[in-house]
Amino acid sequence: MVKGKGIEKAVIPVAGFGTRLLPATKAQPKEMLPIVDKPAVQYVVEEAVNSGIEDILLVTGRNKRAIEDYFDYAVELERELESKGKTELLNIVRNVSEMVSIYYVRQKIAKGLGDAIYHAKGFVSDEPFGVLLADDIIDADVPVLKQMIDVFENHKGIILAVMEVPIQDTKLYGIIEGKKIGDRLYEVSNLVEKPEPMEAPSNIAIVGRYILTPSIFESLENTPPGKNGEVQITDAIKNLAHKEKIYAYKFEGTRFDVGEKLGYLKANIAFALKRKDIGKEFKKYLLEVLKEAE
Ligand code: UTP
Repeated sequence: MVKGKGIEKAVIPVAGFGTRLLPATKAQPKEMLPIVDKPAVQYVVEEAVNSGIEDILLVTGRNKRAIEDYFDYAVELERELESKGKTELLNIVRNVSEMVSIYYVRQKIAKGLGDAIYHAKGFVSDEPFGVLLADDIIDADVPVLKQMIDVFENHKGIILAVMEVPIQDTKLYGIIEGKKIGDRLYEVSNLVEKPEPMEAPSNIAIVGRYILTPSIFESLENTPPGKNGEVQITDAIKNLAHKEKIYAYKFEGTRFDVGEKLGYLKANIAFALKRKDIGKEFKKYLLEVLKEAE
């Protein structure tokens, strides 16, 4: 049973290798790659904060120290900016470290997303919690985690963010099987990790936002490695289907998979075009380039 608590904690796993963005990710975390001028991980931290989250746990690993430095104070840099009177930049830099309480735990071996989330057991204790993947950046009027928390208010259980994908792409996602119970809501009866299109129960795919309940930890303990030899969160959620309600929520917003090259480029273009300072000039430039390319 899910207790009647709200969602105050979120987990952001950032311990993966990021092989799809090599060689850029050989010596730096993919979560630190900028979308325009902000690292990807900051977009998801901001989404969590704007959804009312008070404490965030980052599950890190080797080569990820830049993320910890990023959310820490940058004493020398701040002193330099202060002495030069660059107040606006100083505020930007300081806000990053003061946005929210961030905690860290290290996943020593990258054994899969499920294993990364298992590292949050002590942090989460007995409360439902949010999970955000920094690979998925979602441009939305209402932050997607907030949309999901609103669903959770009326549907206590596990909530998965989903979107429809072309059927040939099911092998890239966890796919749900379920019954539509509302405008954007499904009750989930089964989940399959990365099925071939022929085996997919639907074309409704899970993206990187979850509300999970503490029972996930026991389920993870009993979940053997699955696809790619990794402990899959999809499998652990599936194993809870008999005792807990699982809902899938079709979020409102535009999602970019910034963990792969094309998605990363698309996100940069979309966010740059929306910027007040450079958007107009950038659009002009893009139009020129496209015209030349025709
Ligand atoms: P991905 O499936 O994108 O794996 O992980 P990856 O290693 O980061 O990237 P590729 O596929 O090699 O390019 C989804 C999320 O789960 C985290 C990743 O950091 C990412 O946010 N993750 C994955 C972990 O924290 N630990 C793991 O063992 C695996």
